[in-house]
Amino acid sequence: MPKTPHMSRREFVAVVAAATGTVMGATIGLPAIGYLIAPALTKASADAWIPAGPVDNFPAGVPTLFNFNRTKVNGWETTVNSYGVYIIRNEDGSIVALSNKCTHLSCRVNWAPDAEAYICPCHDAYFNIDGQIIKGPQPRPLDPYETKVEENILYIHFVES
Ligand code: FES
Repeated sequence: MPKTPHMSRREFVAVVAAATGTVMGATIGLPAIGYLIAPALTKASADAWIPAGPVDNFPAGVPTLFNFNRTKVNGWETTVNSYGVYIIRNEDGSIVALSNKCTHLSCRVNWAPDAEAYICPCHDAYFNIDGQIIKGPQPRPLDPYETKVEENILYIHFVES
């Protein structure tokens, strides 16, 4: 007569306890792991159209500074960065938007009406109203932003760098 497998009561209880522990661990542990790693899987939006307000808010021929903030989520780290854009509405209706970040070492340039130039306070870089280099150590003109107008609202195309 063949021998039948036999499990003692003690072995049966141990197997059931192990199985119950495994199920309970998975039930509690998997959502917790998902919660903890979810921020790392989140991708921040790379670009956006930023509303700058009615076009009429920007006087023709005068560089006007517009500031906005962008929140960047990188894993568990959230950073709020501020950006400045000089907006120039030309007489012909065209609009130019220039970053106020100096292309040398990223200080903020300021429009100086008397000099008719954007001047960087850090190392004395000068840019003309179109953002082109007048003098200084900067390697390139001010960075332009793409713009669009919809229903009289000006939008700046922000691209995360
Ligand atoms: S950062 Fe502007 S000139 Fe150096």
